Amino acid sequence: MSLTVDLLDSALYADGNPYEVWRAMREARPVHHQVAKTGSTYWAVVGHEAGRRVMTDWKVFTSTRGAMLRKDDNSAPYPGAGKMPVLTDPPRHTDLRRAVAPLFTPRAVAKLGTLAREVAGSLLGGLRERGGGDFVTDVATRFPLAVQAEILGVPPEDISLILDATSRSVDETEHGSSGHHDVMTYYLKALGTRRGDAGRDLVTTLLAARYRGLTLSDEEIVLTCDNVVVAGSQTAQHVVGGALLALLEHPAAWQALREGRVDVDSAIEELLRWTSPATHVMRTAVCDTELAGTTIRAGDAVAVWIASANRDATVFTDPDELVLDRRPNPHLTLGAGAHFCLGGPLTRVMLRALLEELIEADTSLALANPPGWQSTYAANGLLSLPVTVVPA
Ligand code: HEM
Repeated sequence: MSLTVDLLDSALYADGNPYEVWRAMREARPVHHQVAKTGSTYWAVVGHEAGRRVMTDWKVFTSTRGAMLRKDDNSAPYPGAGKMPVLTDPPRHTDLRRAVAPLFTPRAVAKLGTLAREVAGSLLGGLRERGGGDFVTDVATRFPLAVQAEILGVPPEDISLILDATSRSVDETEHGSSGHHDVMTYYLKALGTRRGDAGRDLVTTLLAARYRGLTLSDEEIVLTCDNVVVAGSQTAQHVVGGALLALLEHPAAWQALREGRVDVDSAIEELLRWTSPATHVMRTAVCDTELAGTTIRAGDAVAVWIASANRDATVFTDPDELVLDRRPNPHLTLGAGAHFCLGGPLTRVMLRALLEELIEADTSLALANPPGWQSTYAANGLLSLPVTVVPA
């Protein structure tokens, strides 16, 4: 296995994540220098321990120069840096995060459990009535936004606009910028009409936020809305599609879950580890430092390949097996440290609702045709998952 592989080459992801490539890299060393064909130069961290250090040590590894690798120049200034949670370091990061956090606490999102069950039940019910279909288009794409719509302040008539914009936003090209632009334009309008509104959704919560005597600027509010909406759309869709595929491809594990021999909470963590929808996060070193024996220079871009760290054999026994009752399960799928995913509790509520609906159904689903993967280093997700309805 060549270790000179270019991890940004989209062809590498045509059949999902390149786990064999990452395994060979991990076995050689946890940190590798990469120069992509498209010009992007960075350190690729493929091991769990080194990855965790990069994510948690924000004093050395800043988020203000971008949190995702770019194809060409990782050192170019990032629009939004210092003004939205994912691109800000403490202490301002703490203010921005506290401003939006009340919407996503475990207590706040637990209330969405019933709605999540209803939405999952209705989408799966429709799929069953049609005898099957594409699980990605019919269920995974629609489910997360339908559950989050009220929190995000998106009425039913605007759902397709936001879905379209967020699906474009993950593209690391101009097409992607147009997606972010549309989300921000949407929230800029909301800002104009919702000021003084007593509602408890994303915009009104941010408008009402006060920390250390400071309020958020309009620019910070709109950028933070973009951060939350984009972060919670594609990844959540991918985990839903990926979770079903994992279960269909592992019938014995699926059967154990259906028969109650596996605890649903453990299964959720393992499905998060297994699917790893966010392939990587990026940081930039602010000073020279040692990382797992490698010298990193100030200004160097460093990418943690989360999906690789989640298969590190020094941390996970049988990392390439789907073990639904795996415990402990210190996966990095939702990040770590100050930027740990704000949507973590909500993601777990949504996965639980989906699994319970699948477990309790009196019919099951089976793969009708091979799935189609999004061929990109930016996200690990399915484009299509054709399924048919079969007896349980
Ligand atoms: C399976 C689904 C999800 C995955 C895999 C995921 C993954 C991640 C990861 C890896 C980070 C850390 C980024 C970094 O360290 O630079 C993150 C941050 C974040 N996520 Fe998620 N996420 C998911 C769902 C959601 C949902 C549903 C929401 C919200 C509705 C959300 C909102 C956020 C926000 C706002 C941040 C930035 C937090 C900060 O910088 O303090 N995510 N997510």
